[in-house]
Formats: sequence, C-alpha cells, structure tokens
Amino acid sequence: MKKIIQNHVWSISSFIENKNYKFDKKKILIDLPEKFIDEAIYSITNWNNYLPTPLIKLNKLSKELNIKEIFYKDEDKRFNLKSFKALGGAFAVSKIKNEKGNVVVATATAGNHGRSVAWGAKRLGLKCKIFISEFVSEARAEAMRNLESEVIRVKGNYEDSLKECIKQSTKNNWEIVQDVSWEGYEETPKFIMAGYTVMIKEIIDQIKDDKVTHVFLQAGVGGMAASIIAGFAKFSKNIPKFIIVEPEKADCVLKSIKNEKPTSVKISEETIMGGMSCGDVSTVAWKILKTSTNNCLTITDDAISTVVAMLAEAKLSNEKIIGGECAVPGIIALISLFKNKDYINKLDLSSDSKILLFGCEGLTDKKMYKKLLDDGLKKI
Ligand SMILES: Cc1ncc(COP(=O)(O)O)c(C=O)c1O
Repeated sequence: MKKIIQNHVWSISSFIENKNYKFDKKKILIDLPEKFIDEAIYSITNWNNYLPTPLIKLNKLSKELNIKEIFYKDEDKRFNLKSFKALGGAFAVSKIKNEKGNVVVATATAGNHGRSVAWGAKRLGLKCKIFISEFVSEARAEAMRNLESEVIRVKGNYEDSLKECIKQSTKNNWEIVQDVSWEGYEETPKFIMAGYTVMIKEIIDQIKDDKVTHVFLQAGVGGMAASIIAGFAKFSKNIPKFIIVEPEKADCVLKSIKNEKPTSVKISEETIMGGMSCGDVSTVAWKILKTSTNNCLTITDDAISTVVAMLAEAKLSNEKIIGGECAVPGIIALISLFKNKDYINKLDLSSDSKILLFGCEGLTDKKMYKKLLDDGLKKI
C-alpha cells in the first residue's frame, strides 16, 4: 500500500520561529478575560441540544508518522451548524440582546461566522443583516437566508464586505457582531473568542491527562487560535507548543510575528480555504498571539482535496470523517513537516509527541465539499 507521506502534495511554503515567545498565563487571561470565558462556557453548555464534539484519534496517521497520538477535534458535529464558529457569534448575539434589547444585528462573513450570528438572532427574534463578498458561495448565502437573515452581497473580498457592513451599520444604528476586533471595537470580539474556548474545556475533559505537546491552529484573523491558547492558559497545567497554520495567500499572522507588529497582507488571489482568507490580524488576538505563538507556517491549496478524501475514506483514522477545506490545514502542516528533518528537530516532534488538530468545519458547503472530495479521490 502506498504510504500517506509518499503522496506528492505535501509542502510548507514558509516556516518561522517567534523570537518574542514568552508564555504568560496571567496576561493572556486579562487580554481575554477569565470572567468572559466562565460566562461563555456556562451559557453555551446550557443551550438546547448542546453536546461536546468528538475528539477522534487519527491512529493510522500517528502510526505512519511514529507519533504517540494525534487528536482531531471534529467540529462537523457542532450543533447543526457544522463549524466551531457556532460557539462564538451566537453567544455574542445573546450578550447583546441581554444588554441592548431588540436591536438589529449585522456582520460580515466568509460563511460560518455569519451562520452563527444568523442562528443566534433567529433564536432570540432579532433581525439580522449579513454582508458577504463576491467569493462566498451561493450555498453559504442560502444557508444564512434559511435562518431568516438578509444577505447583502458586496463587490470585492472579505475586507470590502466588512467595510460595507461597518458603513451601513453606522448609518442605520445596527449592532455589529464581528469576529475580528480593531481599535475601539473589542468587547464583542472578546465574547466571540470566549465562546470558542468551549472547545478547549471539552478537549481537556476528553484527553484526561492533558499532556498535549503540540497544537496546530488554523488562522484567519487569529481569533480562534488566540482563544484556544487562552483556553489552555485557563484549563491546562501543561502548556504545549502552538503552531499557527495559514494559507500562503493570506498569511497576516506570520507576517505580523515576523515583523513584530500587526502587518496587513494584500490578498491578490483567493485561497480555497475561504474562512482563513483574511488580510489583517484581529487586535485582541494579536495581544495574545504575539508572545504565545511558538511558530508560524504557511501551506498552499495543493493538498486540501487529498486530505478531504483521506478523511472521508478513513485513511487516517478508523472512522470516516467529514472535514471541509478549513478542517484540513493542521493535518497538511503536520504531514508536510515530516518531509523535512530540520523542521522535525526545530519543533521537537518525536515518538513521544501528542498532537492536537482542529477539524474546524465539516459539511458547511455541500457543493464545495463534493468538488474537493471528487478531486481528492483521484489522488489517493
Ligand atoms: C471555518 C473557519 N472559519 C474561520 C477560521 C479562522 O478563524 P479566525 O478568523 O478566528 O482566525 C477558521 C480557522 O481555521 C475556520 O476553519
């Protein structure tokens, strides 16, 4: 049988170490306040139909790479929304409703965050306006319309849709529920990030001995990555290495870590990993990432369909897994690192390693998933 690693798709485009790494639990839990985390966890775990998502062992992959354990958090099973984003936007909407009453909420999105905001608004009877770029699929737009939100398509990319959302919300007095923060707009993004920490509370309960050594974190604006780090600061005695994974076409976290200050990236071509196609790091996320990230790396789109198919065909684990385009970057990064001894040494990857990966989304866009799966099946 052909080995997984023998496939020709694996490669790392850039790899850097963070010169300013200095993990400071106390500071992290001020930047993402502990009381927000406590409140989010209490609230979300009491929602109807709440269930922890599965933590699956990629045992076939760990055997081939000679790694002790590889855990995959399967967010396809997150409520009916099929991505971790369900935890953030909907929680922030509930906070806003409690504080401000029957307002209109608005957001810009690549799809999953908007679905969470629309879902939260529908449950609480609030009107919802969603701004999407020309690159967001009609299937994703339809999913948000089905949750009774108004979807407004904007010419240009994600950043353009965000600008339009801010413009119209300011004019019409709508409450912006955005998963990226900027100077003067930080409280709601903190609520959203606090919602994401539910994943870590679940994982620490699921792993039990909490001896994870390496965590691979996909990043768009960096909100998810920073919230997972904050979750470790709060719930885990052991602090693993945190490795940020981004598309090479949208590497704002890598560039910011390299330049030691937030650095914008102009996105000249869209990646398939739509949820991660962001040009600016979130200010709240940056405060945490700048000293808590160990390494950053980037990948191309080349291996995405291959891994989507490998998961679907149970090539990496005993069970079949549905993972969308933003679910697979951690797996791609890990396998690609094993093509290069230098990277393995730099990251201290060994037969004692316990790796944590995030399957951030599942079947969030059926058409896209089918296309990736059909393409990937030809390659494995
Ligand atoms: C579906 C999805 N959206 C968005 C993101 C990026 O999250 P953030 O923008 O908080 O960094 C990810 C991360 O991988 C993702 O999987």
